[in-house]
Amino acid sequence: MRPVVHVVGARPNFVKAAPVLAALRDLGVEQRLVHTGQHYDAAMSDVFFADLQLPAPEVSLGVGSGTHARQTAALMTGLEDAFADLDPALIVGYGDVNSTLAAALVTSKTGVPLAHVEAGLRSFDPTMPEEVNRRVVDALSDVLLATSPEALAHLADEGLPASRMHLVGNTMIDSLLLARERLDPAGALQRLGLDAALLETGYAVATLHRPANVDDPATAARLVRGLAEVAADVPVVFPLHPRGGRTLRAGGVEDVPGLTVTAPLGYGDFLSLVSAARLVVTDSGGLQEETTVLGVPCLTLRPNTERPITITSGTNRLVDVQTLAAAAREALAAPPRPPELPPLWDGRAGPRAAAVIARFLADHA
Ligand code: UD1
Repeated sequence: MRPVVHVVGARPNFVKAAPVLAALRDLGVEQRLVHTGQHYDAAMSDVFFADLQLPAPEVSLGVGSGTHARQTAALMTGLEDAFADLDPALIVGYGDVNSTLAAALVTSKTGVPLAHVEAGLRSFDPTMPEEVNRRVVDALSDVLLATSPEALAHLADEGLPASRMHLVGNTMIDSLLLARERLDPAGALQRLGLDAALLETGYAVATLHRPANVDDPATAARLVRGLAEVAADVPVVFPLHPRGGRTLRAGGVEDVPGLTVTAPLGYGDFLSLVSAARLVVTDSGGLQEETTVLGVPCLTLRPNTERPITITSGTNRLVDVQTLAAAAREALAAPPRPPELPPLWDGRAGPRAAAVIARFLADHA
């Protein structure tokens, strides 16, 4: 039996792929995992494989970092060889990272079908590398697995046939709901050397890694000043993504009173910390969704989001550095509001995605 080959490379891919792999395994489908090595630090990769109980990858390409063109080119040549060896029946890509773009470009010229998990999200912001990746990957995919109804409308607007589209829900939320049973906020705080009393007095979690926020030193320094205003009201825990390390440190993030910078955290510790937080400040895509399900107010430091359902149904709000502090104060003062969960964010998206993939394989055998 030719295998289904999953391509993962960056932190959010691991979280989205784990439930699909588990569900396909339950269906007895032969599968292989390829890790491109886009993320390679132990804290960005190994710890996620352990926390999510992902199988060791069959192939590790070790591509690493680079400019967009260099990284994508290295990903493509590595994946072309891997696909030639593995002889896939179908390739599955996740989300909007360069590893997924490269997988789609290579797959499209091999005649092997491609399934895209998290199809149809659009920020309509062409300056985001991820928006380019999303559009290209969706255009080249044979199976479009969407997390929310508006994603299907975007795909239809781009002329993609309805026969390719399947609303399966959000596999990242499957991982969250599974991990939820084992969350340990007190342990996570303790491992970071922080006082467990923060669980009573309240704290916020912040993350930043978007190029638009952290690549330019002046922008990064402004954001550090914005976070300092938040930290004047509530202690902030800030796990630092390697991308923003240099500019945010130069902007003084390590000297902000009330703000604790930590290394990147594993999946379990990070979710534990977020689950008990009074507030999250972020520019991450996945975290907008996770806070929605956890019912934690989320302030997103971006002018747009490809995940508007987290605003309409969830706890998310877009802010900029000028409005951040006031929005944080408002969120901290507001009574907790249980979110209205988007349809199919129920912990069963992985099995639904697997069923669609298995049916596609049977139809195209
Ligand atoms: C990538 C994704 C982004 C996603 C993010 C999640 C693209 C275009 N971007 O951004 O959509 O939200 O992952 O984290 O694919 N680095 C390390 N160690 C690592 C990985 C990266 O030090 O293990 C540093 C390197 O300096 C590297 C930089 O981070 O140059 C950026 O890494 P890269 O994979 O290019 O993109 P991310 O910013 O992580």
